[in-house]
Amino acid sequence: MTEPKVISGFSRLSKQQKLELIAAFTPHPGEADAKLKSFWHSDPEIQKMLDEFSENTLTNYFFPYGIAPNVMINGRIYMVPMVIEESSVIAAASNGAKFWANKGGFHSEVLSVTKIGQVHFIWNGDFNLLQQNFGQLKQKLLNRTAGITANMEKRGGGVLDMELIDKTDSLDNYYQLVVKFDTRDSMGANFINSCLEEYAAGLKSFVNESDLFGGGEPLQVIMSILSNYTPECLVKTWVECDVQDIEEIDEHLTAEEFVWKFEKAVQIASVDIYRATTHNKGIFNGIDAVALATGNDFRAIEASGHAWASRNGSYKSLTEIKIDNGRFHYSLTMPLSIGTVGGLTSLHPMSKFSLELLGNPQAPELMQIASAVGLANNFGAIRSLTTKGIQIGHMKMHLLNILNTFKANDQEKVLAVEYFKSHKVSHNSVSVFLDSIRKRVEN
Ligand code: MEV
Repeated sequence: MTEPKVISGFSRLSKQQKLELIAAFTPHPGEADAKLKSFWHSDPEIQKMLDEFSENTLTNYFFPYGIAPNVMINGRIYMVPMVIEESSVIAAASNGAKFWANKGGFHSEVLSVTKIGQVHFIWNGDFNLLQQNFGQLKQKLLNRTAGITANMEKRGGGVLDMELIDKTDSLDNYYQLVVKFDTRDSMGANFINSCLEEYAAGLKSFVNESDLFGGGEPLQVIMSILSNYTPECLVKTWVECDVQDIEEIDEHLTAEEFVWKFEKAVQIASVDIYRATTHNKGIFNGIDAVALATGNDFRAIEASGHAWASRNGSYKSLTEIKIDNGRFHYSLTMPLSIGTVGGLTSLHPMSKFSLELLGNPQAPELMQIASAVGLANNFGAIRSLTTKGIQIGHMKMHLLNILNTFKANDQEKVLAVEYFKSHKVSHNSVSVFLDSIRKRVEN
């Protein structure tokens, strides 16, 4: 086994050379080479495409692709694809979805679809003068991107607005050019960033190359980039029913007692950051899984959601609960910048399949689907946490993983699944159980 050292030119090596080089850093290079290759796609064309999604690709890393059935949103039922490695997430989403499908399902409304990009610049010139000339500047900037925006405009989107912002209160000489975009069904990162880089160049030449601003220090563009915080790309999804219709959730609780505990759990997530983080993580369990299955950027979605959760100065639950006149109303309102065209969405064979399965939705519909799954997951988590606890279900789902670590065969798995229907699953209890049945077989 070779000790890793700094390598130059790695990206220029062929795939086979990279593979051999990396295999040499592992304890069993021959096995490593075979293992990595065993995950290659059987169709070389598809494998080449997968390789090209990223850099220095050696192989594929498989994740389970599953379905949450019965997700009813605004009266329509979806079979929602989810890519996730955590065993109980799809089960929780499916249970939550089924529970609400019998009560009218999820209701969802897209509140806005605007995205924001910023050119950050430093300048010690006369900002009022720049503001006075902004009409002229704006026209010049828009002209510069006419070639880029034409197609987006044909689809009904494009640049919505542009303004200069004085940020000198927070940092000396710091200003922004803030641009709002409608990117239609695409997430729009490339479109926005291409426009912004043009605006940055246009802004620089407008200020530095004209006599209007009387010389002085030149305006310096620091960076031009979309913001992943999208508080104006918002979706609201909710469930509601009469409290008395929340039937037998738990044999030990009446509907009213359950709803009281549920309400307290949500209130706790609104006042305690430690709980709020876990509460929101449960929402992203579902949303990220849908984002991955549809080829979307889950890191961008998460970043925006967490920033939104702290928009009022303290980090809070993304969901809200209202119990009024015997009516249970539970909602999730959050930013969700997600696309159904562009990026990986139609290139990756599985994201393409996912979108087909969902009926080729437009981006706003996918915002509704992903947020409904997030709410289903959260509802399922709070329901378990406030009743029987999370571990029973979690460990039952995890049972197969534990059995696999002990290399249980199919017959042992069948026996274990039966046995653990009425016993508590833990690493230790599974080990003891397997020992006992293996000893029985030996004798
Ligand atoms: C686990 O992935 C997610 C939960 O912790 C969420 C929650 O506590 O609300 C179950």
